Amino acid sequence: MQGLLRLIGTAEVPEGEGRRVQAAGGDYAVFNLGGVFYVTQNRCTHGPGDLGECLVEGEEVECDFHQGRFHIPTGRPTAAPCTEPLRVWDAVVKDGAVWIDPAAGRIGA
Ligand code: FES
Repeated sequence: MQGLLRLIGTAEVPEGEGRRVQAAGGDYAVFNLGGVFYVTQNRCTHGPGDLGECLVEGEEVECDFHQGRFHIPTGRPTAAPCTEPLRVWDAVVKDGAVWIDPAAGRIGA
């Protein structure tokens, strides 16, 4: 599919976890929540945390720098000190992998 970027194989992201993926100049976090995949920016909006490598609890990821949290499906910050939402992309599952349209990222709310 033209315009889509392959990020990672679905089997490489266990349920209830995230993975950091650097691809085509982008830095992404791919999450598997009960078999549904979500993609956000990897970098925490508060600082240098790599969200793709952080603890996932339910639908939230907790940044390991200052324990700020985000709601993964929307990118909305849910715990201080995070106040700025994440950029999110619609995840497309195709051919056993997670893909996005890099140009279609949007600021979560
Ligand atoms: S860097 Fe993520 S909460 Fe501070």
